[in-house]
Amino acid sequence: MRIDVVSIFPEYLQALDISLIGKARREGLLDVRVHDLREHTHDRHRTVDDTPYGGGAGMVMKPEPWAAALGSIAGTGDHRPLLLVPSPAGDVFTQAMAAELSTREHLVFACGRYEGIDERVYDFAAEHYEVRPVSLGDYVLNGGEVAVLAMVEAIGRLVPGVVGNPESLIEESHSDGLLEYPVYTKPASWGGREVPEVLLNGNHGKIARARRLWQLERTAQRRPDLIRALDPATLNRHDRDALWHAGFMIEDGRIVDKPVGPTEE
Ligand code: ADE
Repeated sequence: MRIDVVSIFPEYLQALDISLIGKARREGLLDVRVHDLREHTHDRHRTVDDTPYGGGAGMVMKPEPWAAALGSIAGTGDHRPLLLVPSPAGDVFTQAMAAELSTREHLVFACGRYEGIDERVYDFAAEHYEVRPVSLGDYVLNGGEVAVLAMVEAIGRLVPGVVGNPESLIEESHSDGLLEYPVYTKPASWGGREVPEVLLNGNHGKIARARRLWQLERTAQRRPDLIRALDPATLNRHDRDALWHAGFMIEDGRIVDKPVGPTEE
């Protein structure tokens, strides 16, 4: 997979040289190229921003350097790459989106700073790219670089070969719409705290059921929105029991909160 990142702080992206993503780059699984937006300016001060038309606080990124940078990257391939623009105003980035993006041949990230990029850049980019603004979540970062680090790691690790043991991608948080179960290692008894007995007896059926129960309980407690989004058809009898005890029920083919009221006799 090829990934291009355009930024005014290319050194921010040096973290992509480390750990699994760095190794995948060295092995040729990921071809990550970081570009300095200022290389596409022509004035002495290498200006990339200016004041907003209509007034208001802050500065806006100028269209010319962005058009030059994005035009030169799009022009180097024979396909239409996906342009991802990190922005708190984008679609929320999810594990499902990471999985979909990990199958793409070429991703380009445009890191905005200040109050954002001149809107006309998006129209221009749509002539060369499929353009998608993406948000890490409902909070505001100073720029897109940190969001790109997170997204490249989430996407890159799903590219076949990047994570040595692909099994570890199956049983992790969000891979099946649930949070992951708690994990333990040796010693079995530590500071008076015990590893749950069921994990010590080697009964793989019981272990799988216990872990599934813990996943459902933990998700119900921390992320009830994820429970409500589950497809009831994917739940077995044990799952339905666990969700009932956690305060949910199935009604008209959907998972809903159990009404709170006087308890039944
Ligand atoms: N840039 C600024 N805030 C952001 C966010 N929440 N997600 C992605 N990019 C951003």
